[in-house]
Amino acid sequence: MPASPTDSPPIGGTDPARDWPALFARRTAHGGDELTAILSLAASTDVITFSGGFPAPETFPVDVLQDLLPRLVKDDTATALQYSPTEGLPAAREAVSALLEQTQGPSVDPAAVLITSGGIEGLQLLARTMIDPGDRVIVEAPTYLGAIMAFAGFEAEVEGVPMDDDGLRVDALEAALARGRPPKLLYVIPDHQNPSGRSLADDRRRAVVDLCRRHGVLVVEDVAYRELGFDGTAATSLWSLGPDVVLQLGTFSKILMPGVRLGWAVGPAAVVGAMTAAKQNSDQCAGALGQVLMAEYLRGGHLATTLDVARPLYRSRAETMLAALEEHMPAGVTWTRPSGGFFVWLTAPEQIDARALLAPAGRLGVAYVPGAPFYTDLQGDNQFRLSFSRADEASIREGIRRLATLIRNEL
Ligand SMILES: Cc1ncc(COP(=O)(O)O)c(C=O)c1O
Repeated sequence: MPASPTDSPPIGGTDPARDWPALFARRTAHGGDELTAILSLAASTDVITFSGGFPAPETFPVDVLQDLLPRLVKDDTATALQYSPTEGLPAAREAVSALLEQTQGPSVDPAAVLITSGGIEGLQLLARTMIDPGDRVIVEAPTYLGAIMAFAGFEAEVEGVPMDDDGLRVDALEAALARGRPPKLLYVIPDHQNPSGRSLADDRRRAVVDLCRRHGVLVVEDVAYRELGFDGTAATSLWSLGPDVVLQLGTFSKILMPGVRLGWAVGPAAVVGAMTAAKQNSDQCAGALGQVLMAEYLRGGHLATTLDVARPLYRSRAETMLAALEEHMPAGVTWTRPSGGFFVWLTAPEQIDARALLAPAGRLGVAYVPGAPFYTDLQGDNQFRLSFSRADEASIREGIRRLATLIRNEL
């Protein structure tokens, strides 16, 4: 007899008779809750959110998009609305190649550029290409938690190397490379890092590349915030110093919009080729509409206009946050002073537990990301990632005042 509709759990509800999680792959144990929680705050209007690395909507090139989108849909239908080659549309690869030459120096054959569906996909493809269970991967401590999740998701042993105000410590990297099994790769965010806001000092850049070249370790350079230096300058990219050992991952999320999921990978041909093969059985190709849009946006010189709006806006928000921290935070609390990007990294006295303060902060209408998930070991409990990119200045002042009150009351 067929089961009556009342025997079934409601659609989307839990079914006590079935233990699906018991069948999950081992790698699902590596979570993802923190990123989901950050994204779930994206739409909230009643919370001052310092949590996500969200670009300011004021930087989105709405006028350009209003002009370009209808034209592309009408005149470029067969390309813009169709599947694209896995490695990306020729126009998109040419546009990225021109951007790299203009902003970083080396000229790169468009055929060597892989167009990805954003920075995270670049990390996923790389992890799929490089990581077997138990492989050693070195990252900055702290680092972007999406990268930790991508590597840990393929069961890498992810190991953090400490930073100071000048970025990754080369002496500590050298020590890490000298002990244990050779790592497969080093992941670095040299410019206005997520989460610390720090940048890798000029004199360390060549040292990192040379050291990894000597040890046969792939350097993975994530340049998500590279173009967002407040003064418009950018340091020499690691990829331009060593295209033979550096794979660069870029994204358009922070300099165009995350509403098109688009990024790039360039570097050793064998690695980019294997990532392209991996993409064939993930999303097969990045969305063509986004690619033609990005290509036209770059070709038309609109990135410069966007950056002319974005850099002073982020500088002013960062300065507002730093001034508010100075005014309100109790003694014993310290923070970084970014020269670009989206983030300030705050360290409170040891007895402060940033995770435990999330709920009371939420009741006060302020959100941040606690520090611990940005490490691969038991650090960061008393640290906070504060993003200044999306809140307006009045909200930043008020949000920091509330957070300072909360921390002061705990001390
Ligand atoms: C360092 C870094 N890399 C990559 C990404 C992900 O970029 P995308 O939105 O393009 O996937 C982010 C986003 O927060 C980031 O901070």
